Amino acid sequence: MQIVIRPDRNTACATAASLIASQLNTKPASVLGLATGRTMESVYDALVDLHEAGAVGFSAATSFNLDEYLAIAPDDPRSYRSTMDRLLFDRNDIDLARTHVPHGSGPGSGGAAYEALIRDAGGIDLQLLGIGENGHIGFNEPLSSFASRTREVTLAPATRRQNAALFDGDEDAVPKRAITMGIATVLEARRILLVVTGRAKAGILARAVEGPVTAMIGATALHFHPDCLVVADEDAAGNLA
Ligand code: F6R
Repeated sequence: MQIVIRPDRNTACATAASLIASQLNTKPASVLGLATGRTMESVYDALVDLHEAGAVGFSAATSFNLDEYLAIAPDDPRSYRSTMDRLLFDRNDIDLARTHVPHGSGPGSGGAAYEALIRDAGGIDLQLLGIGENGHIGFNEPLSSFASRTREVTLAPATRRQNAALFDGDEDAVPKRAITMGIATVLEARRILLVVTGRAKAGILARAVEGPVTAMIGATALHFHPDCLVVADEDAAGNLA
């Protein structure tokens, strides 16, 4: 695991965006693993800026998102499908037919079908990740197996609290169930880029980076990956030894 510390959130997210852009410039038909959440909003803004400046194109790319709420329709503005369309896919030249977000019902739904799609696309070249305040990656909550694959899960109370802002601050409105790539699925990506910003993540980032490796903190599984880069701002890096 390598760590790059940038002075502030905007610079950290711009660094992450440039790394994604150089992946696409090196291999235009890259398969990207994408994440949602507040951290990613700034990463995608920076990526759209690069696209508008002519510095990166998505026309040959394929994407697979990490996770999605269950019991929310894809066209609901709070779904991760709608969020990704709004933040990234509608703002660049990616072919929408090659963007994938897992879903729990309908044709092609379920974990095994999603894993097959990833395999058929040749596997993920670069997986973008954020980290939850409880150490989750994707929606792999504490005690998720490091051997886990894409599946339906129950969200931890801490995650529903963390994500309540997207539901008008109403924690009870946050779905209790979701579908997520597993930790083993994530670890199969050829490269991993974890982006962490803000003081609220300082404690968990130090535990994720410094260990010990434990199923209580899904992000500690990243120690098993040979090419994992963490980009953090100074606030998030504040507790590192
Ligand atoms: C979202 C996801 C989550 C988030 C994490 C951080 O697709 O997989 O693991 O990356 O919860 O979220 P923010 O950036 O909102 O703090």
